[in-house]
Amino acid sequence: MNNKYELIYEGKAKKVFTHDDANKVKIEFKDEATAFNALKKEKFEGKGKLNCLISARIFEILIKNNIPTHFIELENENTMIAKKIKVIPLEIVLRNTAYGSLCKQTTIKPGTLLSKPLIDIYLKNDELNDPLLTKDRIELMNILSSHDLELIINLTLQINVILKSFFKNIQLQLVDFKLEFGYDFTNNIILGDEISPDNCRLWDLNQNDIIVSLDKDRFRNDLGGLIEAYTEIHRRINDFLKPN
Ligand code: TMP
Repeated sequence: MNNKYELIYEGKAKKVFTHDDANKVKIEFKDEATAFNALKKEKFEGKGKLNCLISARIFEILIKNNIPTHFIELENENTMIAKKIKVIPLEIVLRNTAYGSLCKQTTIKPGTLLSKPLIDIYLKNDELNDPLLTKDRIELMNILSSHDLELIINLTLQINVILKSFFKNIQLQLVDFKLEFGYDFTNNIILGDEISPDNCRLWDLNQNDIIVSLDKDRFRNDLGGLIEAYTEIHRRINDFLKPN
């Protein structure tokens, strides 16, 4: 990044820089992948670019469906321009199919289709290892009003309807995903962060009977082929959205 722009924040997968316009930021996607709160870490050449391009397409779809997001435009293949937000320190996970931590912490069997989406809210706090919260604990911490919490939950449910149907069109099962929200400069709640195979579980519907993960589980579970999987997701999205 041109050193005219100041690094505001560096996360595990992205760097956020200032923009000439104080209400905007530049978000650079990194090639690093982490899992289990960065206990596991590896660099995958090209991951940043793929996640940036995939996220941009998904944000465009959400914006077309009237979901407020921070996405403005791509600056280049691994940098997007976004609205500057005050991040709400919550990770909103929506699950359509049981997998991952849900199956480690309950008796629900992996792969069970949930009769309605399950929303799990975690505290975005690496020191505390992103603990699972309750509504009462969220209220106690004064992170946001119950009105704003309901708004975020409703947006997450709406986003699920849009994304589930979009991914089904490209033969992918949207198992679960994680979202982050924030307040823009007018104090409106908008969707932030990224939507990519780093924070969604996507299973290939072209495969019968076996689970083929085309997401970060390839790294989390040492399956190999992470870049190939992300490239396949990007290809399917682009082929589907290509004007005829
Ligand atoms: P989990 O089953 O490990 O709780 O993950 C649920 C979803 O949230 C899955 O799509 C991966 C995503 N996720 C993140 O994006 N960041 C995280 O730190 C964690 C734990 C999960």
